[in-house]
Amino acid sequence: MKKLIVANWKMNPTSASQARLLFTATFAAARKLKNTKAIVCPPFVFASLLRASRSARLAIGAQDVFFESAGGYTGEISPGMLASLGVSYVIVGHSERRRMGETNEVVSKKIKAARAHHLTPIVCIGELERDDEGNYLAFVRRQIVESLATVPRKDAAALVIGYEPVWAVGEKAVRADTPEDFLEISIFIRKTLADLYSKNIAEKIPVLYGGSVSEKNARDFLEQGKAGGLLVGRASLDAKKFSEILFNADQTVQ
Ligand code: PGA
Repeated sequence: MKKLIVANWKMNPTSASQARLLFTATFAAARKLKNTKAIVCPPFVFASLLRASRSARLAIGAQDVFFESAGGYTGEISPGMLASLGVSYVIVGHSERRRMGETNEVVSKKIKAARAHHLTPIVCIGELERDDEGNYLAFVRRQIVESLATVPRKDAAALVIGYEPVWAVGEKAVRADTPEDFLEISIFIRKTLADLYSKNIAEKIPVLYGGSVSEKNARDFLEQGKAGGLLVGRASLDAKKFSEILFNADQTVQ
């Protein structure tokens, strides 16, 4: 299975011309990929600008989606609109959206709507803090069970899971997780998926790591952590760093 390296640009860069420049550099790096697929998730307004240069090694994703198809929902973007622009992936339930009030129930509706338009949901989960008693495992399990409540067995193999411990994400991150701890929790995530669906289906679902991924630690998460790919925030805004992450991922032997 190809490793998926997701560039989550968040609310960056600050202009269309800068978005084009960043995309051009990312596209150039992605052209050399053999075992890896880059998924660039720009802000909605830039998605149509980047569409023309889409290739098999690079897909466009969105950072969110609404669960209705059309109508009086001021400010929202439907899955059909994204699909019509050539967007093929969508991040759902990112911790920065959950922090703004998005619940597991809303996440599950978004996943269902995305699937109906053949968008691949990248479902984000992850605990706020890691305690020594292991309560975070129950929290992560509940997020998975509730967020995937709308996904029947026949659709489950088309999911992507992004494990992003909230304490490791963004400017305020304490540190990245360790590849060893990621490996442990990814086994737990797969076990939860196997309980929900089947062992066979659980093995087909890529589990990505996200949270302070850099050109320095990317390879360790893929090799020692056996991650199915990575979600990259800050480092995806620096074309040089992101190119290095793509290059390292492509060299990785799992
Ligand atoms: P970060 O963000 O790489 O800046 O920690 C990751 C993410 O939010 O997906």
